[in-house]
Amino acid sequence: MERTFLMVKPDGVRRQLVGRLVQRFEERGFQLTAAKLVVFGREQAERHYAEHREKPFFGELVDFITSGPCFAMIWEGDNVVQLTRNMIGKTDPLDAAPGTIRGDYAVHKGFNVIHGSDSVESAEREIANFFRPEEVVAYDCPLQVCI
Ligand code: PPS
Repeated sequence: MERTFLMVKPDGVRRQLVGRLVQRFEERGFQLTAAKLVVFGREQAERHYAEHREKPFFGELVDFITSGPCFAMIWEGDNVVQLTRNMIGKTDPLDAAPGTIRGDYAVHKGFNVIHGSDSVESAEREIANFFRPEEVVAYDCPLQVCI
C-alpha cells in the first residue's frame, strides 16, 4: 500500500487546525498509521529540507519548522501521495485554489500550514527521517473495506 508523510507545520498547530486537517484525510478515505506531536531538532529539519539548502529562504524555513510543535503523520491509501498533494494545494497560497487546505487556510508562502511528500521516494525518505518503524501501526480499517 502506498504511504505518504504529512506534517502540520507550527502555524497550523498554533492555529488549532490539526483536528480539521486530520478529518479531511479521514473523510477522503485514507488510513492514518502513525502520528505524533513533536518539536523537531535543527539537524532533522535540515535533513528534511536538504534539497532546498541553496535556496535563499532555507534558514528561515528551518527556523520556522523548529519554532514550535509539528504534527507529523503517515497516511496510507491508493495514490495517497498525489491525492493528498492535490488536497493540500499549491505551495504559494496566492496560487492555491479555494477548497484546498492552503487555499482555505494559508496566506503566506512561508506559513502554509502543512507539508506533504511530493513523490513515493520522498515519502519513504521523509518517513525514515521522522519515524521509527515501531511507531507505525498496522490495523484493519473498516473504511477501506467500504470504499
Ligand atoms: S521551490 O523553490 O519551488 O523549489 O520551492 P517550493 O517547492 O516552492 O518550496 C519548498 C518548501 O519551502 C517553503 N518555502 C518557504 N519557506 C519560507 N519562506 C519562503 N519564502 C518560502 N518559499 C517556499 C515551502 O513552503 C515548501 O515547504 P514544504 O514544507 O515542502 O511545503
